[in-house]
Amino acid sequence: MSTAAITTAKEVFDLLRDDLVAIEQEFERLSTSDVDSITEIAGYLREGGGKRIRPALLLLAAKALGYTGSSSIRLGAVVEMVHTATLVHDDIIDVAHIRRGRPSANTQWGNSKCVLAGDWLYMQAFRVALEERNFRILDLLISLTQQMVEGELLQMERLGSALNEQEYYELIYRKTACLFRVSMQLGCVLGGASLQVEELLGDYGRNLGLAFQIVDDVLDLTASEGVLGKPTASDLREGKATLAVVHALQHGNVAERADIVAVIEDQSFNRISHERILTILQRNGSLDYAMLAAFAHAEAARKNLSILPDSEFKRALLWVTDYVVAREK
Ligand code: IPE
Ligand code: IPE
Ligand code: MG
Ligand code: MG
Repeated sequence: MSTAAITTAKEVFDLLRDDLVAIEQEFERLSTSDVDSITEIAGYLREGGGKRIRPALLLLAAKALGYTGSSSIRLGAVVEMVHTATLVHDDIIDVAHIRRGRPSANTQWGNSKCVLAGDWLYMQAFRVALEERNFRILDLLISLTQQMVEGELLQMERLGSALNEQEYYELIYRKTACLFRVSMQLGCVLGGASLQVEELLGDYGRNLGLAFQIVDDVLDLTASEGVLGKPTASDLREGKATLAVVHALQHGNVAERADIVAVIEDQSFNRISHERILTILQRNGSLDYAMLAAFAHAEAARKNLSILPDSEFKRALLWVTDYVVAREK
């Protein structure tokens, strides 16, 4: 086996190509119903693309532990279906009109149908997971789904108010990092890992997921909608304080803090412009601060992998830690 480092997305994709194709087919097979609206909405969501990072993590964890069976295909489809269900619901909650560079499902079918399609997808994911006849798998997926819902609810309750860092991290753990963690843990369950290994690889997922959401939040402030494929500056417009903003609220001068609070409370840029907020964040080094926090979590994730023997799958997991902090969408 070559010991060369994995340095591109294509190398990781090549490594997982057959399995990712099989997961797509499984997802397609699983997202059909006798009720046309479900098949249409689920098909639209599946065809919208997406990075498929969660099933890739599950596959890499299982393979790094020597797993060669086919349950990773089904469980890969399960985590992507759970992710898809959370996105449909999230876009309804956030009143977002664009996702993956095209109209979001709620824009096409309306909120009511999309709530139900999301519920259906959750239940379909659980039905497939149930076929594994493994309580540990169900246990992981049920607490995951509850934590994700709690994360969205906590976020909603804190809209329009300034968070502290601890609250920010608790929130992004629930809404995002928990699914990264569980994707790794499910790979560990399939690979027959010890609890210690599952804990460490789960921590890799948690650290990676935290880095991923911190970067997502920075991109929301700095990227363009064309590149990102979803609305930008939307967090502030929705009254959400993310890490860079939390930092500026702690370090800015009185006028700067007042301007940030005004945007969060108004949930709009009517009084204070987006440019003014970016200037405040730049002046206080807040965007750099958030990116440094993302780098630190990516580094912690790399350390969590030290328990694994060298393999191309481990090298791919190492590559993912660089990818999440360097990504542009
Ligand atoms: C979007 O996740 C939701 C967040 C956790 C920020 P992704 O960025 O993985 O979305 P897709 O699946 O690639 O579109
Ligand atoms: C993450 O929240 C979404 C979920 C966990 C479902 P965001 O609201 O920040 O995600 P985007 O920006 O809409 O993808
Ligand atoms: Mg959203
Ligand atoms: Mg949201």
